[in-house]
This record gives sequence, C-alpha cells and structure tokens, in this order.
Amino acid sequence: MIIGVPKEVKVEEYRIGAPPTAVDVLVKAGHQVLVQATAGEGSGFSDEGYTKVGAIVVDTAEELYERAEMIYQVKEPIPSEYPLLRKDQIHYRYLHLAAEEKLTKVLMEKGVTAVAFETIETPDGATPCLDPMSAIAGRLATQVGAQFLGRMYKGSGKLLGGVPGVLPATVVILGGGVVGTNAAQMALGLGARVIMVTRNLLRLRYLEEVLHGRFETLASNPYNIAQAVKEADLLIGAVLVKGGRAPTVVTKDMVKTMKPGSVIVDVAIDQGGCIETSCATSHAEPIYIVDGVIHYCVTNMPGMVPLTSTMALSNATLPYALKLANKGYREAMKSDEPLLKGLNVWNGKVTNEPVAKALGLEYTPFKP
Ligand SMILES: NC(=O)c1ccc[n+]([C@@H]2O[C@H](COP(=O)([O-])OP(=O)(O)OC[C@H]3O[C@@H](n4cnc5c(N)ncnc54)[C@H](O)[C@@H]3O)[C@@H](O)[C@H]2O)c1
Repeated sequence: MIIGVPKEVKVEEYRIGAPPTAVDVLVKAGHQVLVQATAGEGSGFSDEGYTKVGAIVVDTAEELYERAEMIYQVKEPIPSEYPLLRKDQIHYRYLHLAAEEKLTKVLMEKGVTAVAFETIETPDGATPCLDPMSAIAGRLATQVGAQFLGRMYKGSGKLLGGVPGVLPATVVILGGGVVGTNAAQMALGLGARVIMVTRNLLRLRYLEEVLHGRFETLASNPYNIAQAVKEADLLIGAVLVKGGRAPTVVTKDMVKTMKPGSVIVDVAIDQGGCIETSCATSHAEPIYIVDGVIHYCVTNMPGMVPLTSTMALSNATLPYALKLANKGYREAMKSDEPLLKGLNVWNGKVTNEPVAKALGLEYTPFKP
C-alpha cells in the first residue's frame, strides 16, 4: 500500500503521524511510504532520517495526497486540507467527529474511509491510541504544577518534595484514571504528599496497593473535595465522564479557600474543565490568576513535548496502521473488533454509533 505521512497543519502542532522507526517497520513490511518534506522537523526528525529508512520525501501535500492510498497523520483535517481528500482514501488519524459536524459531512461527501485513533477501543474499554496522550498529560501536570509554584510566577515558592526538616507540598488529584495515576506517580517520585479523590473505590484500592509513598485516598463527594482543595498546594483536575462534558467538581467558592500562590492544573479542560474558574489557555500564554491561585488550563498539553508524544502515539497506532496496510481495510475490520470501533465514516455513511448519535445523523454499521 502507498502510505502518506503529511506535515501537520494545525497551529502549534509539532507531532508527526509516523516517526522514522514506524516508517522502517512499514517499509520492511513491503509498503511504500511518502513523507512530506520537513514534516518531521518539529519532532526532531530530518528528511534524511526518513530517506535512510526507505521513505520517499515529497515536496508538497498535494503530491502526497494525490499518490497515497492511506493518510497516516496526527490531527483531523482542517478546511485548507478538505480539497485534498480523495474518494476511497483511508484516513487514519485523530478525528473527534462527535463535536465536528462540518468535518463529518465533508468526509461523507468525499467518500473517504475514516478511521479515528480515539475511538479504537479494546474489549476491556481501554482506548489504546488515546491513553498515551493522557499518560503524557498526567506526567506533565505535575511537572508544570511544580514549575508554577515558583515565586517568579507568583507561586507560593514551595518545593514539591520539601527537604529534610521542611514539609513537602500537598498535591490533590481529582480523578484516578490514566491522567490522575500518571500525575500521582510523578508527584510521589518528587516526594510530594499526594491525595487522590475519585469516584471508583475499587480503583482507589488498587492504586493504594501499587503506589507507594505519601499516598492518601478519598472518595469523591462535595464535602471531601472541599476539604482536600483547601489543603492543596497543587490541584490537578483529571476527571472524565466518557462521551460527556467534564463535571464541575470544584466550585469557585472552593477555589477561594485555597492558599495564595497555590496552583491549579485543569487537565480536563479539553472536555470543558472540572473546576469552575477554569478557562482554556494555550502554550503561548498558559496561566492566569484567580483569587491569588495560578490556573494552568492548556488544552493540548502533549504538544509541549512533541518528540516523546510522537513516539508514544506511534507505539500505539502503528500496529493498527500495519493491519490496515497489510490486509486492506475490509479484511482488517472483519478480523479486528477494536479497529472496527475506530471506523467512523465509510462509503458516505457514519459507521460509529456514538458519533452518529452525537451529531443526530443516521448510523450505518460497516458491511464488508
Ligand atoms: N489537556 C490535555 O492536553 C489533555 C490530554 C489528555 C487527556 N486530557 C483529558 O484529561 C481527562 C482525564 O482523562 P483520562 O484519560 O485520565 O480519563 P479516564 O477515563 O482514564 O479517567 C477519568 C477518571 O475520572 C473519574 N471521575 C469521573 N467523575 C468523577 C467525579 N465526579 N469525581 C472524581 N472522579 C471522577 C473516573 O472514575 C475516572 O477514574 C479527560 O477529560 C481527557 O480528555 C487532557
């Protein structure tokens, strides 16, 4: 199969769909891989690095889209890319169609086969192509939180881990999923006191067994959250209700009880945020202050570390890319239930039920 890896066009997007390690695997499996010139630069990969593993570097997106049978990219198509989409071309990338009616209709009209990273789901409910980005965002949440506690950012000036004779900072984490667990691991590693609040008590029991250090747990209810928020030097919002907007679990009155110079990192901001005072920010201007509390609410945190993010994403997406390329999408869908869940649009129809429901469009199951 001819696989095209274009340069990302979204603002401040430096990741790439396939790093040279992934291209190497695809080429060795007998596929031809076209990579757009300079596409890897943002993640630290040169054109030369791609040619060394057998890729063909092409100058323009137009040429790449014209020749490729499958587009292997990170982000969803934006309007400037719409004219490039071709009938029967496979698009394997993030799509987030439930909130993108216009794009869904373009994909239907163009007759592309659209496979979304984010809806690939294994039988245990895991989302393998989404989880690596949550892991990165969770780890970064602690890292940026520790940074903004610095006095030069108007933070309280507390070192997360303290030192012998001086107490460590308290990190309160709301939500014990992928983001929350990774944030906790980092905070414990730095020697902080960690309080995790989540709804799922079985999950708390498990985390208490596997995480060691100053790790305390609380069941999620408004009373417990209010008490924990008051104690927090760093508050990390990481709750998710699948398919819905993040619930507001911290009110603005609770934020008022926080110590001056403490920090909020609301990772759930991409789903609307779980803290009432949160508003989306960008890497260019990541923080603002409300009631003396520093708020960090960047919606695409993994974009801060494109090298790690590209490699982590590729580790998760490559096995499915290989299946699509080796077997063709029809055979791949027949034999792989998680991949079938990733199929969002095919033959002008919406083939993913939650996406169809969210957009009020007809759901048509895939029939190979
Ligand atoms: N800002 C970014 O760059 C970025 C990057 C990755 C993920 N995210 C977001 O981070 C959030 C968390 O993602 P995840 O992968 O950890 O999800 P997840 O499903 O693994 O975990 C969510 C957790 O929230 C818990 N929860 C739900 N309602 C709760 C409540 N009322 N009180 C306490 N806990 C509650 C659930 O029990 C679950 O453990 C999502 O909104 C996701 O979109 C943001």
